[in-house]
Amino acid sequence: MTYLTETLQSFHEKEKFSSGNELLDMYLHTQANQDIKRKLSVCFVMKESENNLVKGYYTLSNNSIPLHIIPESIQKKLPQSYKSIPTILLGRLAIDAKFQGQGLGQLLLIDALKRCHEISRSIGSFAVIVDPTDQKAEFFYKKYGFVKLPDSGKMFLSMKTINQLFQ
Ligand SMILES: CC(C)(COP(=O)(O)OP(=O)(O)OC[C@H]1O[C@@H](n2cnc3c(N)ncnc32)[C@H](O)[C@@H]1OP(=O)(O)O)[C@@H](O)C(=O)NCCC(=O)NCCS
Repeated sequence: MTYLTETLQSFHEKEKFSSGNELLDMYLHTQANQDIKRKLSVCFVMKESENNLVKGYYTLSNNSIPLHIIPESIQKKLPQSYKSIPTILLGRLAIDAKFQGQGLGQLLLIDALKRCHEISRSIGSFAVIVDPTDQKAEFFYKKYGFVKLPDSGKMFLSMKTINQLFQ
C-alpha cells in the first residue's frame, strides 16, 4: 500500500505547524516525538513536497473500549465474555490553517483509515475510535460515518465498514 504520510522524524519542520487548535499544535511541537520514543503512539505527517514543512498530521495507538458502550445493534453480535473490545485510537488529526478547506483533512483521514485497515489484518482491531476536541471536529468525523459513543465524547467507526473502503 502507498501512503501520503510518513513517520514524524527530526528533519520535519514541526515547529511552524499551526492548525488553529493550540492543544493539537503544542502536541506536535513538544510531545509527539517523546510519545513515539516511549511507544505510546506513532505520529504520521503529510509534508510539503519541496521542503519539510508539515501540512498535516495524525497519531495512532492501541486502545480498547468497554463492550457496553458499543451501539446495541453491534454489541449483540459480539461474545458477551469480552468485557473490553480491541480498537485503534486515531487520537489526533490536524491540518495547518494555510491548507484547510482544500480536501487535505479528508485525504489525511483516508490515509489514517488505510493504515488501520492494514494493521487489522495482523492484529485484531474491531473499530477505529476518535476523540474530537470540539463540535466542529465532531461534525467532520460524523460526515465520514463515525458514530458517537455514550458518555465519553468519543466516536466509533467499525473496521468492517473501513475494510469495505479498501477492498
Ligand atoms: C478538521 C480539519 C482536520 C478538517 O481539515 P480540512 O482540510 O479543512 O477539511 P477538508 O477540506 O478535507 O474537508 C473535508 C470535508 O469536511 C468538511 N469539514 C471540514 N472542516 C469541518 C468542520 N470544522 N466542521 C464540519 N465540517 C467540516 C468540509 O466541508 C468537507 O466536506 P465537503 O467535501 O462536503 O465540502 C481541520 O479543519 C483542522 O485541522 N482543524 C483543527 C484541528 C481539529 O479540529 N482536528 C480534528 C479533531 S482532533
